[in-house]
Amino acid sequence: MDSIIVRGGHRLNGTVSTSGSKNAALPILFASLLADGQHRFTNVPYLKDIESTQSLLKSLGASSGREDDTLVVDVSSPAAHVADYEMVRKMRAGILCLGPLLARYGEAKVSLPGGCAIGSRPIDLHIETMRRLGADITSEGGYVIARAQRLVGDRILFEKVTVGGTENALMAASLARGITIIENAAKEPEVVDLANYLIAMGAKIEGAGTSVISIEGVDELSPASHRIVPDRIEAGTLLIAGAITGGKVTVDNCVPGHLQSLVEKMRDAGFRIDTDDSSLTVQATKSWQAVDIATAPHPGFPTDLQAQFMALMTQASGTSVITEQIFENRFMHVQELVRLGADITPMSQVAVVRGNSGGLGAAPVMATDLRASASLVLAGLVAEGETEVSRIYHLDRGYEHLENKLASLGADIERVAAE
Ligand code: EPZ
Repeated sequence: MDSIIVRGGHRLNGTVSTSGSKNAALPILFASLLADGQHRFTNVPYLKDIESTQSLLKSLGASSGREDDTLVVDVSSPAAHVADYEMVRKMRAGILCLGPLLARYGEAKVSLPGGCAIGSRPIDLHIETMRRLGADITSEGGYVIARAQRLVGDRILFEKVTVGGTENALMAASLARGITIIENAAKEPEVVDLANYLIAMGAKIEGAGTSVISIEGVDELSPASHRIVPDRIEAGTLLIAGAITGGKVTVDNCVPGHLQSLVEKMRDAGFRIDTDDSSLTVQATKSWQAVDIATAPHPGFPTDLQAQFMALMTQASGTSVITEQIFENRFMHVQELVRLGADITPMSQVAVVRGNSGGLGAAPVMATDLRASASLVLAGLVAEGETEVSRIYHLDRGYEHLENKLASLGADIERVAAE
């Protein structure tokens, strides 16, 4: 298993570009199952999760390949409508084929995703949504089995905000008969990007990006083209990399408006952040203050930037209280940061970070999940000495060669292939 070696102490300076959003590309690729023919996507990042999705789509009758800067997905009716365990266990987002298969073919057999490092991550809200739209759903042998003559629009009220649940509901309702109203819908930019692609395919959707979305089902959708929205989590991670090293970094090809909560917190901490219509520039001041954060659904502070922000707070003056309100176990990076010398006390949903505890010292650390990996790389950028982050296959799921992007800004960082 590959590792990343980081030699700390280098200020990062310069400009780096954001890739397309993993969490927008995944649901949009599954949405292609809603219409036969060639779907064409640009700005699709080169990530393990994208490759996993392409394999799953292939097993569902949709071949795909890159033509220059375009990912072409060629959908034809599959022999079977089964998303098998081997594929879904590697990538929980595989549950996002439930809505499209059910809406298009009236049946779907999707492996229950199983838990993951950051929490149990149930799919009860996805199941309830499909039942609400008229599907008959049973579970057998670790699989969800769903059937429906034709889905029928209805009112869906989510008891808690769910990004994937909202996305499955959008895709299923697009081909349902009649009107569907989704209330307490997720407002994440990735949900909006999915809605934009569905609309390009001919879906009738209003209100995406707000907590109430209405969908008027149509009989048929058509393949279309779409440019994937920039990855706000990667952009935020790169911005924090510039900040934690005390440098001046511009992150371009991003949507600054998607990172308002991070920008506000970094400005509260004392960083200077300038924005224009497609880039953010961070400039560190001589020292920065600890600030508290609590993760929340968009436009609140993104849970996917919690671990990275915690690394930043280990270098702040004062104490930061970090509350994780989305997932029940998303502090796996804490003990690894403590190995680097950070002073952090984790409790169940809260971690107390005492900043500037005499700086960080290099040590071998282990990645446990995607965003924890990024947090450890960021800490390695300022730890004295050589930090080795192992199991970085987690990192490759969601970052397109992060080490190359950081090296282009002056980081002393390299990927080491396992013997
Ligand atoms: C999406 O996951 C993202 N993944 C996650 O990013 C992100 O952290 C999360 O949204 C929250 O923003 C993709 O888009 C592929 P949820 P998702 O449904 O859809 C509970 C990353 O690092 N819940 O919004 O799975 C759930 O357990 C990944 O890129 C239920 O209880 O998240 C969680 O506590 C990690 N029942 C909360 O809701 C359900 O049926 C929010 O989950 C569904 C979810």
